[in-house]
Amino acid sequence: MPFLSATKHQLVQIAKAGCVVAALGFAFAGNAHAQRTIAEQFIQDMKDGKVSEAGAEDHVVQELIIKRSIPITYQYINNLMSTPNAFGPGVACTVCHNSQDASKSYRGLDLSTCKGMIEGATEKPKRTVFKPGVEPKRDILIRRLRNNRMPLGLGFENSTFTPNHMLVKQWIADGAKNDDNFTKNVLPLFKTANAFGPETPACTACHMSNQEPPSFHELNLKTYEGIMLGADSVAKGVDKATKVIVPGKPELSFVWQHLAEDRMPPGISPSEARDHPNTTILAAWIKQGAKCD
Ligand code: HEC
Ligand code: HEC
Repeated sequence: MPFLSATKHQLVQIAKAGCVVAALGFAFAGNAHAQRTIAEQFIQDMKDGKVSEAGAEDHVVQELIIKRSIPITYQYINNLMSTPNAFGPGVACTVCHNSQDASKSYRGLDLSTCKGMIEGATEKPKRTVFKPGVEPKRDILIRRLRNNRMPLGLGFENSTFTPNHMLVKQWIADGAKNDDNFTKNVLPLFKTANAFGPETPACTACHMSNQEPPSFHELNLKTYEGIMLGADSVAKGVDKATKVIVPGKPELSFVWQHLAEDRMPPGISPSEARDHPNTTILAAWIKQGAKCD
């Protein structure tokens, strides 16, 4: 999508075009209007050097939409749900999630209507997939668009109910203790290739220390202390490290979520950007209150 990966140069072009429009506006309205238009404010920010350098995939979305609080309409969200390739290559969400009838629609999740999106999965366990008005990064809907299943590259066709998966889930459910069961049965799984699916590296091939690179998210799955410390302890500081285990609560533990949840749409390559511009827009709609009109 060339527009969405605009460079700073292209943003300057957009701003210049805005100048022309703004100049025409002045010609008609004189200097009567006191409040700045969004285009005028953008031009001012360009002049003040407040527009960030290009880099991230969703640079334009951040600069022109999110930072300026443009209201996202449900109509656009509805389009996203029913359009192929909206979040990266793959069929549209509504092919598989099109009604609350769980005999025809996965998880009885209806992404084809606003009400259906807000009500969430109607099959057991019944649950909402986001909370209107709340940052949704860690909620089910955005998680499913951003988080790759681990070990990285493992496809949806591989079971998430193997005995090894159940060992990890049960260990967390039982309080995630540093006991004999952990040392003998659980920890070795993270260090062994093919433990959670065929032809996959050990978790510790990618998460082996608190240094990134080489360890993704500065996550060390080699020791009990490393696992309980969590991710990004150097970048964020030890106290603010992202906890990946919530003792007693597998469903809330990122280790379990990453073992059990496939990224949507199923089959998408793990190398596809996790921060697709449309995922950012979907999250913004939710934060703005998930309004249906
Ligand atoms: C080819 C069919 C298919 C497509 C297309 C698809 N999904 Fe799914 N989805 C599934 C299946 C199967 C599950 C349940 C299995 C699982 O948990 O991975 C699921 C589960 C989910 C869940 C979890 C619900 C819960 O209660 O845990 C969410 C959220 C979700 N999908 C969102 C999406 C979004 C958003 C899209 C579009 C980008 C999408 N899906 C596209 C098949 C699909
Ligand atoms: C080939 C490299 C690779 C392997 C193997 C791998 N991971 Fe990851 N892991 C990643 C990458 C890259 C990310 C960044 C997020 C993403 O891509 O979804 C990540 C993210 C994570 C996160 C999220 C951390 C956070 O800050 O939220 C957890 C938890 C995790 N992995 C656990 C595991 C577990 C458990 C295994 C083994 C079953 C595993 N990983 C195997 C590459 C890997």
